[in-house]
Amino acid sequence: MSAITVNTLKKRKQAGEKITCLTAYDYSFASLLDAAGIDMIMVGDSLGMVMQGNDTTIPVSIQDMVYHTRCVARGCEHALIISDLSFMSYQASPEQALKSAGKVMKQGAQVAKLEGGEVMADTVRFLTERGVPVCAHIGLTPQSVHKLGGYSVQGRDDASAKQLLSDARSLDEAGASLIVLEAVPSALAAEVTRAIAIPTIGIGAGPDCDGQVLVLQDMLGIYPRPSPRFSRNFLEQGGSVSGAVTAYIEAVKSGAFPGPEHSFS
Ligand code: KIV
Repeated sequence: MSAITVNTLKKRKQAGEKITCLTAYDYSFASLLDAAGIDMIMVGDSLGMVMQGNDTTIPVSIQDMVYHTRCVARGCEHALIISDLSFMSYQASPEQALKSAGKVMKQGAQVAKLEGGEVMADTVRFLTERGVPVCAHIGLTPQSVHKLGGYSVQGRDDASAKQLLSDARSLDEAGASLIVLEAVPSALAAEVTRAIAIPTIGIGAGPDCDGQVLVLQDMLGIYPRPSPRFSRNFLEQGGSVSGAVTAYIEAVKSGAFPGPEHSFS
């Protein structure tokens, strides 16, 4: 297995080959995912909920991201590591974002992830021009849960759908390497995916994104609180943790996941 790079992802999009991604926050799970052949491991700030037991991702610090990125990197040989920049570790200025991205990259992250659309385009440009590949995250952006008024599907009306498309185009033009689309109608996610050159990675965004991501604890069914509707329990099908991960990879690659029951209209 050769190491996955941002160039591999672009080629995958061009070839119409699906990209697989799961979150992980520690050495053991990262090793297991990597050995199963996952393309990307996301050290998401969802760790604030599934590892720390918080209600939101907001309490997560950049030191938390640094620590978990270091643990994951030790278990990773071929998967591309994407690490979230935590709430308020990048929003103030491009310089602040660069400093935070540098911290996670020094621990082994290959891509820094931040939430936000057009408003973050200058920051994305600033980072990419300085050698930091960026994954942007639009649609339902969990760090803005209080501004959004809850974890609801985004882009359902004309104005917000247009804004999402324009956000995606701005991020692509600014040099982002990929974009996570969370909780958006499948048809809109498909339109965004066709409109931009970089890969889209969906979570609750239907089957037509270039790749899929889920939170590991959700897809194993081990998070004690309710999991989002767009997730699926792969442990029931896979029979073991590595079986679940293999079943997920196969389902994403074949297009069997996500189905209509995991998507929004
Ligand atoms: O924090 C996270 O894990 C994420 C993914 C679920 C997209 O942002």
